[in-house]
Amino acid sequence: MFGKPDMVMVFNTKDIETVYRNEGQWPMAKFRISQTLSRKIRGDFFKETIGLPVSQGEQWSKMRTAVNPVLLKPQNLSMYLKPLQEISDEFIKRIKEIRDPNTLEVPADFDRELNRLTFESVALVALNRKLNLINGAGSSPDAERLIECTRLNFDYVFKLDIQPSMWRLIRTPLYYQSMKVQEDLFRITQKYVNEALLQIKEKKSKKVNNNEEIYSILEKLLLIDEKLAIVMAMDMLIAGVDTTSVTITAILLCLAKNPEKQRLLREEIFKVLPTKDSVLDDKNMKHLPYLRAVIKETLRYYPNGTGTLRCPKQDVILSGYKVPKDSKVFLNFNCLLRDETFLHKLINFYPNVGCATKTIRNLNLILSVICLLVWDHVFVLANVWQKWNGSSYFEIVAEFQS
Ligand code: HEM
Repeated sequence: MFGKPDMVMVFNTKDIETVYRNEGQWPMAKFRISQTLSRKIRGDFFKETIGLPVSQGEQWSKMRTAVNPVLLKPQNLSMYLKPLQEISDEFIKRIKEIRDPNTLEVPADFDRELNRLTFESVALVALNRKLNLINGAGSSPDAERLIECTRLNFDYVFKLDIQPSMWRLIRTPLYYQSMKVQEDLFRITQKYVNEALLQIKEKKSKKVNNNEEIYSILEKLLLIDEKLAIVMAMDMLIAGVDTTSVTITAILLCLAKNPEKQRLLREEIFKVLPTKDSVLDDKNMKHLPYLRAVIKETLRYYPNGTGTLRCPKQDVILSGYKVPKDSKVFLNFNCLLRDETFLHKLINFYPNVGCATKTIRNLNLILSVICLLVWDHVFVLANVWQKWNGSSYFEIVAEFQS
C-alpha cells in the first residue's frame, strides 16, 4: 500500500520456526525503512557502518563481529556500577522532591522521570558522560533534544513504517519531521562522542604508564573505529532507553499488583545488600535469582514490542500458503508469551527461559542494576508491604497470569 510492500503476519510457532530455518546465513530484516533512508542520505558517514538495528545480511554480521567482544562481556560493565549507583542516589533524591508529602505517592507522569533515569544510565555507557537529566537542573538544550529525539524516533518509525503512510510516494510533513529527528540524533551524538574522544586523548597524554588502565565501552569502540563508536552510541540510546524504562514501569506495575511478591523480593535484596551503604557489585549481583525471575516474568507478561521481521531466502510454506522468497514476514511471537499451550513448558524450563542470547543476558544485567539501585525506595512509595508468605517464582507466574 502507498509504495510499501505487502507483509505476511505469522502467529504460530511452526511458521516462525520455518521462517527462522530459511533465513540463510545472515538475517534480512528490512523494517525501519525511514530510519535506514535517513542514514543512506548521509552515505558519506554511514556507508561502512549504517548501524545494527538497520543493517542487513553480511553488513550486519560484520558490525556484530566488530562490537561483540566489547558489548557482550559482562566484566566490561563492572566499571559502571559505582557511577550507576550515584545516578540512582540522585534519582532517589528526586523521588523525595516530587512525591506527595502526605500520601508518598509520585506524580502521574512518573514514567517520564523513569525515562530520564534510564536515559542518564544508558548515556553513561553510550556517551561516557553524565547528562544531568535526573532533576533537569544541570542538563543542556542538546541533552534535552537528544532525549526527545530518542522518544520521537519510535513514534515516527511506527507512523511511517508500520501504519499506512504516503511518504514513499510524496514526501509528507511527517517524513521531514522524522528526518529532522534523525539528523539531530546524529548531530548531538557525534558532538558528545567527539568531546569524549578529546577527553580520552587528554587523559592519555597525561599518563605515562597505561598498562593498568581500564577502558570504558566507548573508549574500546573508539579504539576500533571512530564512526563505529558514534553509530553504536546512537543505537544504544535509540534501542536501549525506551525499552528499559517501559520494562521498569511494567515491573513496578506487576509488583504493585502483587504486594507479597514485593515483600519476597525485598527480603532477597536485604540479604544481599543489608545496609543503606551496601554496594552492589558483580559478585553479590549473582545472588539475586528472585529479582531476575521478576524481570524475566514481567518481560513475558508485558513484552516490549510485538515481534520481529525476517525475509526468507527461499520460498516457504506457511500455514499451507506458499510465501515467495524475500517476502517480508512479521513474526508476532509476543502474543505467544501468554499462550497457555506453552506456559507449562516455560515454567518447566525455567531459569533458562527468556535468556537465550548473550545480548539479552547482558541487557538484563544492565536492567538488573538500574532496577536494583532504585528498588527499595519504590517499595516505600508503593507502601504496600505485607507479610512474606514464602511464595515461589512459580506462584508469581500463576498470579501474574490471573
Ligand atoms: C528491557 C530492555 C530491552 C529489551 C526488552 C530489548 C529488546 C530488544 C529486541 C527484541 C531486539 C531485537 C529487535 C529486532 O528484532 O530487530 C533488540 C535489539 C537491540 N537492542 Fe535491545 N532491548 C532492551 C534493552 C537494550 C539496551 C539497554 C540496549 C543498549 C544499551 C539495547 C540495544 C540494542 C541494540 C543495539 C539492538 C540491535 C541488535 C542487532 O541488531 O544486532 N537494548 N533489543
